[in-house]
Amino acid sequence: MTEKEFSRNKNIEIFDHPLIQHKITRLRDKSTGTAEFRKLINEIAMLMGYEALRDLELEDVEVETPIEKCRSPRIKGKKQAIVPILRAGLGMTDGLLNLLPTAKVGHIGLYRDENTHKPHSYYCKLPSPIEKRIIIVTDPMLATGGSAIDAVNFIKEKGGKKIKFMCIIAAPEGLKALSEAHPDIQIYVGHLDRELNKDAYICPGLGDAGDRIFGTK
Ligand code: PRP
Ligand code: URA
Repeated sequence: MTEKEFSRNKNIEIFDHPLIQHKITRLRDKSTGTAEFRKLINEIAMLMGYEALRDLELEDVEVETPIEKCRSPRIKGKKQAIVPILRAGLGMTDGLLNLLPTAKVGHIGLYRDENTHKPHSYYCKLPSPIEKRIIIVTDPMLATGGSAIDAVNFIKEKGGKKIKFMCIIAAPEGLKALSEAHPDIQIYVGHLDRELNKDAYICPGLGDAGDRIFGTK
């Protein structure tokens, strides 16, 4: 599927902001080192979060300025949860916490089998109660979509309802799979890449996001 076809789905937003595109180019560069890579991942998460949180509910409260009293809006309640998919999703957490400092943070541990490319689960801990929270699931990479689909399945099994999934780079295969498996969630994509290769890596992509964030191999 093409970017234009995905854009007809109102639950999918593919970003075209020049700042995000510039930072993604730096991420792709294999000579970008760990410290800069981490910084960029957080900055992109924050820029994407600014847009993805546009629908946060507001309530008017009374505030006294140095001039007079007035009513002014603030974010209603403190009911957000950020849920990174381990490991790489952790890299986006601080960027989003800059926007939502009181959000609770859950964790979902999944790793992809190198041969089958299927996700294996090793951890799931979500803030409770999860039912009423806006849940932002983070993972820089949406490749086959298997990890994201399983993560959203876990969250729904625990009662999560209002779910947003945020990735920095998506392959068309994964975006199609996730949007079909979970048509009720909102999906935010920094850039839609060309395709998956035979090892289910995104092309041109940025390599292994977890290894590049944590300096492992
Ligand atoms: C990577 C990435 C996603 C997953 C995407 O994690 O961070 O979670 O692969 O692939 P998929 O869409 O085909 O499921 P990985 O399994 O390498 O684990 P890691 O973050 O611990 O390195
Ligand atoms: N996971 C990654 O980190 N990179 C890819 O290209 C695919 C899956």
